[in-house]
Amino acid sequence: MAEIIGMVTCSHVPSIGNALAKNSQHDAYWGPFFDGFKPIHPWLKEHQPDVVVVFYNDHGLNFFLDTMPTFSVGAAEQYTNEDEGWGIPTLPPFKGDATLSWEIIEGLVQREFDVASCQTMKVDHAFTLPLKLLWPTEESCPVITIPICINTVQFPLPSASRCYQLGKAVGDIIQSLDSRLKFLILGSGGLSHQLDGERAGLINKKFDQDFMHSLVTHPAWATQYTNLELIEQVGTQGIELIMWLAARAALGGHVKLISSTYHVPISNTAGGIMLLEHVN
Ligand code: DHB
Ligand code: FE
Repeated sequence: MAEIIGMVTCSHVPSIGNALAKNSQHDAYWGPFFDGFKPIHPWLKEHQPDVVVVFYNDHGLNFFLDTMPTFSVGAAEQYTNEDEGWGIPTLPPFKGDATLSWEIIEGLVQREFDVASCQTMKVDHAFTLPLKLLWPTEESCPVITIPICINTVQFPLPSASRCYQLGKAVGDIIQSLDSRLKFLILGSGGLSHQLDGERAGLINKKFDQDFMHSLVTHPAWATQYTNLELIEQVGTQGIELIMWLAARAALGGHVKLISSTYHVPISNTAGGIMLLEHVN
């Protein structure tokens, strides 16, 4: 049986790409954020995942406002990166496994999640940067990736509760796979941020920290909120934290907190990073 070994959740800010390119990881500004990965690197080395399932939101690279699936899953042998307008270096293509993706897509449709399947899919900073942060010294990402994209760009957005259910379904499917592969779940987005309008710059530290805590003790906590309530708390782009909820639901079961970092701000965003290990 396939095994889910843990979950990493991480904020994604395009300027992380420039910080990496300029080697600014140890600057006073970036240091506290990049330090959040120090406990994660030895853990990855020890646990050696084969596959990373990435819950993330595309920002107009692969999907634009004219065609916006609510949930979409990559089913390609590789995923290419382009800069969607932030001036950041592009990263080498990411390995996929179309057969494995189709098993997940079939399982989701059987469980009444009617996802879009993408046999070509470009991936943006939300997908690429967290993976680069997990394996910073590798030329290209060393594991198989499965992109699961959740719309947070064009209203209506799926509810937190629906994203949680999607994640749970993905976890159930992985656990039913006849395979010896080890899976890591990655949730990319959040935490609080509002990039434009009157509330630009909004950071809600209390909510972010309550949310992070809930992922350890009471993972479905945030599903009590509607999207508008979440946006009120954490900002229009802060709604990206639903990726963390989907990832946490996929992880399931009993967990051990390995590391948790919260640092404000990175760019306009509250930078959060967590690693939870699955325990039997
Ligand atoms: C920023 C944050 C995001 O989530 C994003 O997609 C783009 C920019 C920022 O804070 O700069
Ligand atoms: Fe974003």
